Amino acid sequence: LPVYAGAVALGYLLGSIPFGLLLTRIAGAGDIRTIGSGNIGATNVLRTGRKGLAAATLLLDALKGTAAVLVAPLLATAAAPGPDLALLAGLGAFLGHLFPVWLRFRGGKGVATFIGVLIGLSPLAAVGFGLVWLAVAFTTRYSSLAGLSASAATPLLLWLAGMSEAAILFAGLALLSWIKHAANLKRLLAGTESKIGKRTGAGQ
Ligand code: G3P
Repeated sequence: LPVYAGAVALGYLLGSIPFGLLLTRIAGAGDIRTIGSGNIGATNVLRTGRKGLAAATLLLDALKGTAAVLVAPLLATAAAPGPDLALLAGLGAFLGHLFPVWLRFRGGKGVATFIGVLIGLSPLAAVGFGLVWLAVAFTTRYSSLAGLSASAATPLLLWLAGMSEAAILFAGLALLSWIKHAANLKRLLAGTESKIGKRTGAGQ
């Protein structure tokens, strides 16, 4: 049991690193929480006009999830097998990103970390996620809708790949991410969500 808790804690510590906030601060681009949607994720970093910073945020917020999944199995024992630890560390990383203790539990919406964890567990399902994301993003220009669609499709993709435990985990992660997107969902329904390529979504 301590090994299982260790896997969640390891994932949480990695996931709770708020790269969007750190990178924008280091680059002198201000506090990302006061810009655009106020979110700490790559989509909002893009609203500063700093594409490189946004790309780095996306990459690092994803990589911390992948790292958690790949490192946790090193803790494996006979009673705590590697694949279980990978799932738990992925859960921990996702929770760390959404609810980082360092930011009084006010973290991001989880799309980048979601795909990072997915890459570590099933690269094939991650490709599926990426295709759905790109298709929706290119047709609608809504990053939020792309993430919402791709996260909703992921449990099905995993189930089709025969990974039923991961499918259940990702159904939970998708649900949490949807809840964190409540403000985006409202704006999407009202037709006021900001599109990719716009620098600042006023009042968002
Ligand atoms: O990953 C977050 C994205 O789906 C929405 O971000 O800043 O538009 O709320 P944002």
